[in-house]
Amino acid sequence: MAKIAIMGCGVVGGGTADLLTENRERIKESCGEYLDLKYVLDVRDLPDSPYRDLIVHDVAAIENDPEVTVVAETIGGVRHAYDYTVRLLKAGKSVVSSNKQLVSEHGAELLALAREHGCRYLFEASTGGGIPVIGPLSHDLSQNEILEISGILNGTTNYILTRMKGGGVGFETALSEAQEKGYAERDPSADVEGTDACRKIAILAATAFGKLIAPSRIHTEGITAIRQSDVAAAASVGAAVKLLGRAIRRGGECFVLVSPFFVFADCPLSHVDGVYNAVSVTGNYVGDVMFYGRGAGAKATASAVVADLVEAATGKGATPVWETADESFPTAFGSFVCPRYLSFSGVDRNAVRVVFGDVEFIRGAEGEIAFLTPAQSELECADAIARLSHGGGQLLSMIRVYESGERPEA
Ligand code: HSE
Repeated sequence: MAKIAIMGCGVVGGGTADLLTENRERIKESCGEYLDLKYVLDVRDLPDSPYRDLIVHDVAAIENDPEVTVVAETIGGVRHAYDYTVRLLKAGKSVVSSNKQLVSEHGAELLALAREHGCRYLFEASTGGGIPVIGPLSHDLSQNEILEISGILNGTTNYILTRMKGGGVGFETALSEAQEKGYAERDPSADVEGTDACRKIAILAATAFGKLIAPSRIHTEGITAIRQSDVAAAASVGAAVKLLGRAIRRGGECFVLVSPFFVFADCPLSHVDGVYNAVSVTGNYVGDVMFYGRGAGAKATASAVVADLVEAATGKGATPVWETADESFPTAFGSFVCPRYLSFSGVDRNAVRVVFGDVEFIRGAEGEIAFLTPAQSELECADAIARLSHGGGQLLSMIRVYESGERPEA
């Protein structure tokens, strides 16, 4: 009988313990043996938890127990999680993680440690909650060159944007609702400033391209500057504002970014609402594939953690190699080309046309001039904004417009 430990008994750790208990017989069918939960590591005693008798406070209890072969790390953050994961992998124990910060910052090193010590490091739950996406990218789509991954990777911000679009609910109220439902990070600035989505696109890009880009090097914008009038302007042209993580190969260039986008109704991503996440993957053979489901919450995330525990316990599967990306990867963001929505005050249509060329004027907020630009690079757009500002204009909003990239021939 294999013994399991869980480190961190919060939303995800608690859900994982519940699923291990509920699915005990089903897991035995998959693994050929029971997976018994032996320890739950937490700083708290949790006297009201059904797992209170399993609580330990020192990771050494797990590290030094030869019966424990697989451990779930659901602590989050890097401070303790990194140290504990390194110790357990060095002790030859497989570690399964829902910790996107740890995987996005140290995944290359932790995968190398797992290979060196003959164990596994798995992290399906780190990205997209319960949605299987790392597994399909690693296995089912592995014979494709991945041309693009674009996804709604943060449930909290998608929930907020959906509530803002529906009308009547402001940013703060929607955020409080997301916190109450257990979707938001302990520090919700990681959600609304795009950091959480940035970590997830770093993990997906590494899975697809084999190179882990430090999250600090990924161009990241959140949703804190999005106004109700921007959401309304998008709706007036049949689009929704969505926070997207994107990793795109275009010829010899590769762009990785997190940013709000206008997504038009002909793209399925525009219809993904509430806490739901979706990841669209384009491969050079398979074409477009889309993964959709709950990106946060105890049960959905536990579903991915427990599947990884079962995989690690059966000893099947291989550990990938990730390099740490250097300065040459990804391509400098200044070359990223897309159309944009802009809203200005203090300018007229003629001035806009002189600077931006063939724009489409759309309905904006009272006293503002709103328009969609032709596709241009970040550097060209910044230059045009500076010229319009120099002429007395004040930029109020800039949101990129989503255009799907290269598509393979049918
Ligand atoms: N705060 C995250 C979200 C939780 O809202 O998507 C799942 O990673």
